[in-house]
Amino acid sequence: MVLLRGALCALGGEVVVLLRGALCALGGEIVVLLRGALCALGGEIVVLLRGALLVLIAGIGLVVLTAGWLLWNLSLDVLWQPTDRRTARRMLFLAGLRNGETVVDLGCGDGRFVVLAAREFGARSVGVEIDPFRVLLGRLWILARGLGARARIIRGDMYRADVSQADVVVLFLSPTANLKLQERLKKEMKRGSRVVSYYHPIWGWTPDEVGEGAHGDPLYLYRIGGDADGSLPWRVGPSTGL
Ligand SMILES: C[S@@+](CC[C@H](N)C(=O)[O-])C[C@H]1O[C@@H](n2cnc3c(N)ncnc32)[C@H](O)[C@@H]1O
Repeated sequence: MVLLRGALCALGGEVVVLLRGALCALGGEIVVLLRGALCALGGEIVVLLRGALLVLIAGIGLVVLTAGWLLWNLSLDVLWQPTDRRTARRMLFLAGLRNGETVVDLGCGDGRFVVLAAREFGARSVGVEIDPFRVLLGRLWILARGLGARARIIRGDMYRADVSQADVVVLFLSPTANLKLQERLKKEMKRGSRVVSYYHPIWGWTPDEVGEGAHGDPLYLYRIGGDADGSLPWRVGPSTGL
């Protein structure tokens, strides 16, 4: 009996020692596993946070850039408002734009006049635009239409643009812009060349003709003759042989 008890005690002690050892080993493994999992998770979280931060910075950059662009646009004398295609066509017809003539659109936006004049009227066309985004749009449009040989867009200030070679100058601007431009147009444009302005007249000049846009808005045609009001005292057309 005494021997049996002794044996059981010794066995019990061994089992306890074994179990303790096993539990310790298991605990250690679990701790190592948990640590590994936490590290991996931590790494993922850091990568995710970095990505989110980059997206946030890019987003803020985009918002700041867009806001700056909008504010800069508001500082211009004229905001972008494209002319509809039918009105644009009527303006070029009113101006009597002929094959091979040069047309300059001051403040050309996305270049729709430039493309139209080159494509449908066979003109050499130049657009002047200050906004780089619209310049890019216009250039892509010209490229897409394969009109690179006779249409181009210059990025620049229309108040400094060269109009001395223009047979037709197109304006869809504002009263202020027309006022600022009129002196240069009168001085630099060739005799017999034409200015066609959508919606806004040129103050102090008498239009030679007034047409109508597709939505009933006025189209003003002026023929340059170097006289006091900028228009010719006579008409350019079949009756005058010009
Ligand atoms: C009303 S939009 C007319 C666009 C185009 N001519 C049309 O009819 O579709 C006027 C354009 O003039 C441009 N503009 C304003 N100030 C300018 C400047 N100083 N030099 C060049 N372009 C200018 C604007 O960016 C805008 O695209």
